[in-house]
Amino acid sequence: MDNSVHAAFASALEWWEAMGVETPPVSTAKPKVRTAKAKAPQSTVTRTQSAQAKPPSTSDKERMATAKKLASAAKDLSALKSAMGSFDAGTLSDNASQCVFSRGNPQARLMIIGEAPGRDEDIAGEPFTGRTGKFLDRMLAAIGLTDKDFYITNIVNWHPPGGRKPTDDEIDMCRPFLMKHIELAAPDVILIAGGVSLGAMTDLNGIMKNRGTWQTLDVNGRDIPAIPMYHPAFLLRRPELKKEAWRDLLSLHERHAQTD
Ligand code: URA
Repeated sequence: MDNSVHAAFASALEWWEAMGVETPPVSTAKPKVRTAKAKAPQSTVTRTQSAQAKPPSTSDKERMATAKKLASAAKDLSALKSAMGSFDAGTLSDNASQCVFSRGNPQARLMIIGEAPGRDEDIAGEPFTGRTGKFLDRMLAAIGLTDKDFYITNIVNWHPPGGRKPTDDEIDMCRPFLMKHIELAAPDVILIAGGVSLGAMTDLNGIMKNRGTWQTLDVNGRDIPAIPMYHPAFLLRRPELKKEAWRDLLSLHERHAQTD
């Protein structure tokens, strides 16, 4: 076992202990990496849209068209951030304190895509800064990654009112921004955090059955490997699933190291 694996192992043990697990069921075996082709994120995606879902209103459609225009005009991350900062995202921006754009190192090879800012993030203006974010940071530290090694955003960049899940229309409205964000950050590997992000970015449904299976996202003609994982907030509620999350983290660690 080389030193970096030892270090990752030691951090993982710390992580498990801190989470109250007495005997971490950690395997030293390298995880298998399977590759499956996901639908391009830009393509039509099948999500859990209920049969009664209303079609977008005219103003929603206008907002979607504006989002597309603004995203395609952005030449770099700072232009994208400023376009989104002044974008009228309807209910989302009416109720949020600010647009929560990103955190971490935009040059990092790993990009993490979460769901939507929570209340802490709405105040801080950066994604994953509250309790869930601290937990995510510890998960990543367990494979030797600090915030210079990753770049984080969300599929929706405004805190939804009351912390509810973003609607399909809100996700559709924000998708051009997300796609441009990924294109401009140009990561080598993506971590898709949670089922809502997975459904927003691919035609896959269900994080329980899809976690840990590598996908290939076609982002504006560039194929990027992406691993769906449990959302850290879900793991905080379901600590018994951390064994699977640890396998996925090791798989991410291995793939990330290959991009060096
Ligand atoms: N959960 C997310 O998905 N994103 C955040 O930024 C915070 C919590």
